[in-house]
Amino acid sequence: MQESLRSRQWFGRKGKDGFIYRAWMKNQGIPPDEFTNKPVIGICNTWSELTPCNAHFRELAESVKRGILEAGGFPVEFPVMSLGETLMKPTAMLYRNLASMDVEESVRANPVDGVVLLCGCDKTTPSLVMGACSVNLPAIVVSGGAMLTGKYNGRDIGTSDIWRFTDDVRSGIMSEEALNLAEAGMCRSRGHCAVMGTASSMACMVEALGLSLPGNAAIPAADASRKVLAQLSGRRIVDMVRSNMKLSDILTREAFENAIRVNAAIGGSTNFVIHLLAIAGRIGVELNMDDFDRLSANIPLIVNLQPSGKYFMEDLYYAGGLPAVMKELLPWLHADTVTANGKTVRQNVEKAVSLNPDVIAPVDAPFNPLSGVVVLRGNLCEAGAVLKPSAASPQLLQHTGKAVVFENIEDYKARIDDPDLAVDENSILVLKNVGPKGYPGMPEVGNMSLPKKLLAKGITDMVRISDGRMSGTGFGTVVLHVSPEAAAGGTLALVENGDLIALDVAGRSLNLLVAEDILAQRRTAWQAAESPFRRGYVQLYVQHVEQAHLGADFDFLKGSSGSEVLRDSH
Ligand code: FES
Repeated sequence: MQESLRSRQWFGRKGKDGFIYRAWMKNQGIPPDEFTNKPVIGICNTWSELTPCNAHFRELAESVKRGILEAGGFPVEFPVMSLGETLMKPTAMLYRNLASMDVEESVRANPVDGVVLLCGCDKTTPSLVMGACSVNLPAIVVSGGAMLTGKYNGRDIGTSDIWRFTDDVRSGIMSEEALNLAEAGMCRSRGHCAVMGTASSMACMVEALGLSLPGNAAIPAADASRKVLAQLSGRRIVDMVRSNMKLSDILTREAFENAIRVNAAIGGSTNFVIHLLAIAGRIGVELNMDDFDRLSANIPLIVNLQPSGKYFMEDLYYAGGLPAVMKELLPWLHADTVTANGKTVRQNVEKAVSLNPDVIAPVDAPFNPLSGVVVLRGNLCEAGAVLKPSAASPQLLQHTGKAVVFENIEDYKARIDDPDLAVDENSILVLKNVGPKGYPGMPEVGNMSLPKKLLAKGITDMVRISDGRMSGTGFGTVVLHVSPEAAAGGTLALVENGDLIALDVAGRSLNLLVAEDILAQRRTAWQAAESPFRRGYVQLYVQHVEQAHLGADFDFLKGSSGSEVLRDSH
């Protein structure tokens, strides 16, 4: 039982200070008894009309408030920086760490005893969880839910189809008019991307970590059950404050291992790796790249969702949601870890069943024995690189080819469709300077579209390598997060056109087949480009962002400063 509420340091005071803390809050029509030892619950809201995936969050917050009030709490909703994946330039990832700082400082500076984190679009989940971890108060996540499945020309569509549609338009298979019709049918309701992209992977991640109520990941945004879950989460956070159940009580090493195994079984996004590493760094759990490879190694792909499979988040919900997936995985999970509702993983999922084995398969009859994220090592990625085998082409998982090098994204855009580009289907496309420091912000450009002339020949996949990321909705034989990145002097910076590169996924290796003495000469000649960013947040970012294999967090944000406010000016 929490003996003294943190918020009493504000609202429990006498004299001038207490007068100021309460009086200004009363301008919102709050009666005096609200200030008498009720748990104050912050609702950390990423609502924004510029983040369409989270545009329904003010309504969702009302359901959370209802739950908080029912349980005897005092709800206070506050905005934090919202990161919309589709509109923010140059990439929403550039601002993940900034949003996490907003969350951390907003929570610590204010009289809240616990927080509800309203998350949806890709980066809004990791940024809120990272920030909350650095304060370590009781917290629960409510995800916004996925959109209803898109429809076009009598068939189901989702975000992963964008890559296909645009390639089809480039190769002349699809007309602009047809593309407009697909655009109109893509986003049919409130909510985030409906495939197992990064937003859905993040919603599954928080449920697998135990940070939400069971069922949170898959309930569609448009389903009334989403509001029910929000209301129940509002009730629960008040109890979590009363029993002083902090984030660090849930986020154990075992919880992280559960999340890694669940992400493997669902065919989750490669972005999961970078965000989970950053969250672990904030809460103080040791986690490294090799953990992802080792812990996913025997986990089969049992969820048949795009981009690795066929279906959409709505189908996952109707098939039993994440509890049914975790029930299948129980033998691999730490089943006794405690979750936000106070129950163990086993208690939460033991009654769940898969209602559609075409969507959630049994572990002994998976959709693909390959799952998760493979971590590659070699002289091209000394600190690691990742590849998602379930989204790759089996025939390319062991491949040696000649590099076709693009020095940056502008160079790629200028030359990829050049009819004279020396490239064939056996080539390996190499894109440099799209890493955390090099771009900066590590954009989702790693699944480069193929050259037009190869698309016209019917080629649909090639090995592609970069220090950037890929949208969780993307697919292909794509090596990502090469670390150290080119801009930090990694070997990637030294690759030249025509160099042979060997990828061996089974052997977990990625090597540049160039003699050591030649590489040494190139390294001596290499010079770091001077950053053009001389002020403001972007300069701070370039100076302090860590490499991808560490989670691309800022070096000075690792760990927690706790919830104590060190100075008190009133
Ligand atoms: Fe928001 Fe895909 S754009 S989740």
